[in-house]
Amino acid sequence: MRTAIYPGSFDPVHLGHWDLIQRADKLVDRLVVAVLNNPAKTPAFTVEERIGFLRELTAGMPKVEVTSFHGLLVDFAKTEKAQVIIRGVRAFSDFEYEFQMALMNRKLAPALETVFLMPKEKLSALSSKLVREIGQFGGDLKDLVPEPLRERVAKRLKA
Ligand code: PNS
Repeated sequence: MRTAIYPGSFDPVHLGHWDLIQRADKLVDRLVVAVLNNPAKTPAFTVEERIGFLRELTAGMPKVEVTSFHGLLVDFAKTEKAQVIIRGVRAFSDFEYEFQMALMNRKLAPALETVFLMPKEKLSALSSKLVREIGQFGGDLKDLVPEPLRERVAKRLKA
C-alpha cells in the first residue's frame, strides 16, 4: 500500500492545489491531504473550514483522505505509515524553500521520499496569498479557486 501525504496550509485551497491532488491521486494507493494546524499563525480560514473545502472537492475520490496535523511533518507521516511526501513546485522561486525542506525532512526521516509535481503551466503564478489578497479587495476568483467553492471563499474573504 503506497501512501502519500500532501501537506500544506491550504488557506484557502486553490486550483493549483486541486491540480496537484488529481495528479497525486493517480500515483498512489492512498493520498492523505494534510492541513497544517499552526497555532502560531492566524489564517484567513479555520482548519475546519479548510478541511471542509478539501473534503468537498475530493468527495468523489475514494483514495483521498483529508485531515489536519500539527508538529513535525515527518512524525505525522510516520503515524500515517506514509512513504512519500508530495509537494508542488510552480517556479524556480519555489525551489530553494522546497529543496531545503525536502533535504531536512530526509535528514529527519531518511526512508521518506519527497516527490515534486508540477501543476499545469497556466496555474504556475497561483498562490493562496494572492487568492486572499484578490478576494479581500473583491477581485474575481475565476481561474483561481475551484468553482464549487468560489462563491463561499469570495464571500468570506470580502467580509
Ligand atoms: O502550504 P505551505 O504553507 O507551503 O506548507 C508548508 C508545510 C505545511 C508543508 C510545512 O510548513 C511543514 O511541513 N510544516 C510542519 C512542520 C515541519 O515539519 N517543519 C520542518 C520542515 S523541514
